[in-house]
Amino acid sequence: MAESDALGNTGRRDFLLKVTTAVSGVGVAAACLPFVASMNPSSDVLAKATTEFDLSGMNPGDMRTVAWQGKPIFILRRSQEQIREMEASNGGLDPEPDRQRVKQPEWLVVSGVCTHMGCVPNREGSGWLCHCHGSQFDDSGRVLRGPAPNNLEVPPYHFVAGNKIIIGQA
Ligand code: FES
Repeated sequence: MAESDALGNTGRRDFLLKVTTAVSGVGVAAACLPFVASMNPSSDVLAKATTEFDLSGMNPGDMRTVAWQGKPIFILRRSQEQIREMEASNGGLDPEPDRQRVKQPEWLVVSGVCTHMGCVPNREGSGWLCHCHGSQFDDSGRVLRGPAPNNLEVPPYHFVAGNKIIIGQA
């Protein structure tokens, strides 16, 4: 318990000290808000962070490559047969169920950057072949043959009304 001085003002002094500390803390926080807000990405930066693509022109079996943040993204509209085949296996060198790699079985969305040394694989047969060193990926983007160690990455994306996809936001 605090001791009083000769005039009995200790309690009052402690109270004033606490109030001053609290008020100055709020003031510092308020002063920092504009700086914190200025660190958020601007709307034009956010726009570049995402890529919108209209899926309506794609038929089963079609693939398109779109650019997102300077990287190729493969969008594959899979046929029912392709979906059945991919759901029946867990891939190869980096096993992963197909259902964990897609939001809708009909649409596969994966990075077009080989996980070995970053070449862009070509669509060949039922999957992709990276001609740099021979890695092979299936219709789920899973690596079947190395030297690539991992499956093609799945970027963040979501579907929006009007048969469109937004890449860059989950
Ligand atoms: S970069 Fe694709 S196999 Fe080496």
